[in-house]
Amino acid sequence: MSAKQIKIKDLQTPCLLLDINTLKNNINSLSMRIQSLGSKLRPHVKTHKSADVMHKVQEGGNVQGITVSTLKEADYFFEQGERDILYAVSISPDKLSHIQHLMSAGCDVKIVLDCIEAAQAVNAFGEEQGITFNVLIELDTDGHRSGVLPESEELIDIAKALNDGKGSQMLGVMTHAGESYTCNTPEALLAIARQERDLTLLATNRIKQAKLPCPIVSVGSTPTAFSIDDLTGITEVRAGVYTFFDLVMKGVGVCTQQDIALSVLSSVIGFQKAKGWIITDAGWMALSRDRGTSNQDIDYGYGLVSDIDGHAVEGFIVSSANQEHGIVSCTTDNNQSSPLNITLGSKVRVLPNHACSTASQYTKYYVVDGENVVGEWERINGW
Ligand SMILES: Cc1ncc(COP(=O)(O)O)c(C=O)c1O
Repeated sequence: MSAKQIKIKDLQTPCLLLDINTLKNNINSLSMRIQSLGSKLRPHVKTHKSADVMHKVQEGGNVQGITVSTLKEADYFFEQGERDILYAVSISPDKLSHIQHLMSAGCDVKIVLDCIEAAQAVNAFGEEQGITFNVLIELDTDGHRSGVLPESEELIDIAKALNDGKGSQMLGVMTHAGESYTCNTPEALLAIARQERDLTLLATNRIKQAKLPCPIVSVGSTPTAFSIDDLTGITEVRAGVYTFFDLVMKGVGVCTQQDIALSVLSSVIGFQKAKGWIITDAGWMALSRDRGTSNQDIDYGYGLVSDIDGHAVEGFIVSSANQEHGIVSCTTDNNQSSPLNITLGSKVRVLPNHACSTASQYTKYYVVDGENVVGEWERINGW
């Protein structure tokens, strides 16, 4: 006798749902896009932090290595069999012994830095320990965060220091156009994607003109990866949140609501009828405090509410949240609760503002196909 099929409605709430078909579509669409532009994907695992999701991304093809945002991710994915890992947050000297440990265990780990002091520290540690760190220089191509300016003298000084020192190998350049999250038109997205690419190529050419090596030329964010029209000269593209997508990416204009693979299942626990509120058991602990859509054209509060089958009604959002209470209200003229057919105990899904923050509240995904739960996938958190 076969085991009873678990349905979404049987799950205890709040919990995290991952729609397998939407996930696969998202993976395939970026894999094919980057392949058609002649480059490779180095997927960022910071959104999902799950070996099962990573395997699906690899099945999608056109992948070389992975990108991580924490050393815990590096350890976990290395244990899960991945060898080629880019740790894409500037290295601090105290983490070099951890990197050394990964290298001696057989991991091809690459680190990034963006100042001469860091290059000197890496070199000194490497020389002292008799090892050579593989290093990429981070570029600032949009004024968003960290990185050295592509046209600066410092770029060449860092590249020389990495190349000349015994403790390091100059492996390339990388950038992340984080400002692309503030775009919301195809024209603005194309412009920032081209800027990310062109400034990275400018830095690469300057390094090569100085007779220094630069084999890896790495760019990427989900908005720019879906907008760039030519990747000539770019050896790899890093993107992460595209696997799940979210309401912020919908606001940027790189996905639709139907492309969002992640949702939080919650139960209706009460009403404040006079105020038009529905109370659920998914507060900010279950949804995260990320209010990423608050400065976009449509503010979804703590998330957009859909029925258990995933049909959302525009305007039904988690407008306010306490630790374990979500307050759902209608921000448009819809007839308050009828579109979602909600009664006490009904289950609803909440689409997240920011998939990375929402997923990080959980240790596993319930993988769903239609109304069925078809698997449970673990994920890691922390540092
Ligand atoms: C260095 C770096 N590369 C790539 C990415 C992937 O960006 P996205 O999640 O928009 O695909 C990020 C995201 O924060 C990042 O910090």
